[in-house]
Parts: sequence; structure tokens; C-alpha cells
Amino acid sequence: MSGRGPRRPDGFIQKSNARYDRHDALYRKAKKEGFAARSVYKLEEIDRECKLLRPRDRVLDLGCAPGSWLQYVDQKLTHGAAVGIDLLPTRVALSGKVRVLQGDAFETSLQELTGTPAGEPLRLFDVVLSDMAPNTTGIRTVDQARSLALCERALEVAERALAPGGRMCVKIFEGGDMKQFLDACKQVFRTVKVKRPKGTRAGSVETYVIALDRLPPAP
Ligand SMILES: C[S@@+](CC[C@H](N)C(=O)[O-])C[C@H]1O[C@@H](n2cnc3c(N)ncnc32)[C@H](O)[C@@H]1O
Repeated sequence: MSGRGPRRPDGFIQKSNARYDRHDALYRKAKKEGFAARSVYKLEEIDRECKLLRPRDRVLDLGCAPGSWLQYVDQKLTHGAAVGIDLLPTRVALSGKVRVLQGDAFETSLQELTGTPAGEPLRLFDVVLSDMAPNTTGIRTVDQARSLALCERALEVAERALAPGGRMCVKIFEGGDMKQFLDACKQVFRTVKVKRPKGTRAGSVETYVIALDRLPPAP
């Protein structure tokens, strides 16, 4: 992704007013433990605290590349199944429980995401994850609007393809119309909270909306 700020020879990144070490302790831990990205520890923390994932779940991971969340989900599911989608290729080794698509979350049909054969009712998910992030411009309002559009797509998919009682975890850039998005989530889920995991880099505007207990769709 672009917009990460200039890369420096010492491995540090200068992003707006924050300077951070790309190869920090979590990065090194992820590498040592065989995860594709340090963001796995954000999902792990959210899962531990919010009881997001269960062994028999059917899980959708929007924006799955390079693949650390899918690796975590794969380990967590004993009998479930998962599908991930990203614009970019996902190159991690995964078990047969996980299906990976390369494509745009806006353009991929629910039939394809859920793996539902034509003419059959949608095979619903128990969990929708979205760690999707836009290409950033450095212009706060533009980046927030792009992030919000990705969140709205995740919510749209959740509304249509999540089983009653299902859960959702979506990354959002703080500010802008975030309150509007939270209000929209409250129409669909009984519990909605915001969490900034400890692994979030200093100065980052990223946070996560965790929505639990999808309400039954209106008749
Ligand atoms: C921060 S990365 C996700 C990291 C991932 N959770 C992991 O643990 O490896 C964000 C991803 O969102 C993807 N993305 C952004 N817009 C997308 C879209 N419209 N459809 C699918 N993926 C998208 C990007 O290509 C990028 O790989």
C-alpha cells in the first residue's frame, strides 16, 4: 500500500508526526512464530477479550493479505471453515478449511464469497472480519472517507450473509463519519463496541469496531 511514509535506511518509518520502527517487537514476534504480519496480535487480543471466534464457525476475512488473520483463524477452527478475499495475492500456507479468493470485496458476489451453489439459499457466515485498508493519501478526510466506504461494504456483507447471533470485527480510521457507522451497526447488532488493540502503532488512526449478536433480519 502507498502512503506509509518515507522508508528510511534504519528501518524506521516517518508517518505524519509519528516515527515508528517497522521492525518492532511485535513484528519480530510474528516473524518468529511464522505469522505473515504483526496484525495477528490485534485479532488475537480482540478474540480473547470479545470471544469473537469459535471452533465450528464459518468465517469471512475481507482484506486478508498477506494472511496473518487467516493463519490465526485456521488454527482456531477445528471443524469450521473460512474464506478470505483480497485484491492482492495471499501466499501463506493454510489448511483445506480455508479458501482464498483474489478480488475486490465490492465486486465479488455473496454467492461467491459464501460458496453457495446457484439457486440455493446463501450459506451464512458466523463471523465477518474486515481488516481492509485503503491506499492512503495523507489527507485525513480523504483517507477516513475511503476507510468508511470499506467498512460500509463489510457491514453490507454482514447484513446479508451473517447468521443471526453472528459477530463482526471491522477496522476503521477514527474520526469523520465514524459515529454514523456505529449507529448503522447498532441497527444490525445487539452489542457494538470500539477497541484499539495494544499492538496498534503509536500515531495510527486505526481502530476496530466489534459488533456482537447479529439481530434477526427484519421480516
Ligand atoms: C492491513 S492489510 C490486511 C492484513 C491482514 N489482516 C493480515 O493479517 O495479513 C489490508 C488489506 O486490505 C486489502 N484491501 C483494500 N481494499 C480492498 C478491497 N476493495 N477488496 C479486497 N481487499 C482490499 C489490501 O489489499 C490489503 O492487503
